[in-house]
Amino acid sequence: MGIILRSLVIAFIMKEIPSKKCYIFYYEDVSHVVRLPEYLNYTVKVVNKSSLNAEVNVLKPIANPYWKIELHSKIRNTDIVFFNKTTRYCDFGRLAQHNTIFKNMLLTFRETTNLDFKCPVCKCHYFIRNLYFQADSLPLGPAFSAKDGFQVIVAGYIKEQRKLKEIGSIRFLLTVEKLC
Ligand SMILES: *[C@@H]1O[C@H](CO)[C@@H](O)[C@H](O)[C@H]1NC(C)=O
Ligand SMILES: *[C@@H]1O[C@H](CO)[C@@H](O)[C@H](O)[C@H]1NC(C)=O
Ligand SMILES: *[C@@H]1O[C@H](CO)[C@@H](O)[C@H](O)[C@H]1NC(C)=O
Repeated sequence: MGIILRSLVIAFIMKEIPSKKCYIFYYEDVSHVVRLPEYLNYTVKVVNKSSLNAEVNVLKPIANPYWKIELHSKIRNTDIVFFNKTTRYCDFGRLAQHNTIFKNMLLTFRETTNLDFKCPVCKCHYFIRNLYFQADSLPLGPAFSAKDGFQVIVAGYIKEQRKLKEIGSIRFLLTVEKLC
């Protein structure tokens, strides 16, 4: 059960944006925290429930950051982790050549952000415009209800003395709605 759900959801949310919009995710709640404010600041805004915009200022160059992407959901009171990976941020382009999930994520990021996945990360301004999740008519209605929700956590890290230290993170809770 867990594995089927997991593959469905991964296929579902990582798909390239399809023409038929039967399911749409809404941002129910967004929270973010900066733990090392000397590295960056950012603002995040949800537009008409389904689109996420963000402005990120990197305040000093970051040699070799890592990031974690974590997706999970509480379904019938069981916490199911669909995806939980920490990788070198600048390996992303390379990983995307061999891994479909990363590839589809990269396509989405290319359409919605100016992230370039190059190291060192420069003292630059980055943006996210209209990051949204939707999918066509996969049989997810019964598996996902608004009640279950869906949580995504993205955290950034620097590596110091072989330990990862969190720069900051963003966490959003998504709910799904069936439109057709
Ligand atoms: C973030 O940093 C930039 C560059 O130093 C500064 O101009 C801006 O006001 C800061 N924004 C916030 C929200 O602190
Ligand atoms: C949000 O706005 C976009 C255009 O900016 C529109 O295409 C979309 O249908 C809107 N979504 C909702 C739920 O109103
Ligand atoms: C994701 O993996 C990290 C370790 O890599 C672990 O600390 C964390 O608890 C995991 N998250 C979930 C929701 O299992």
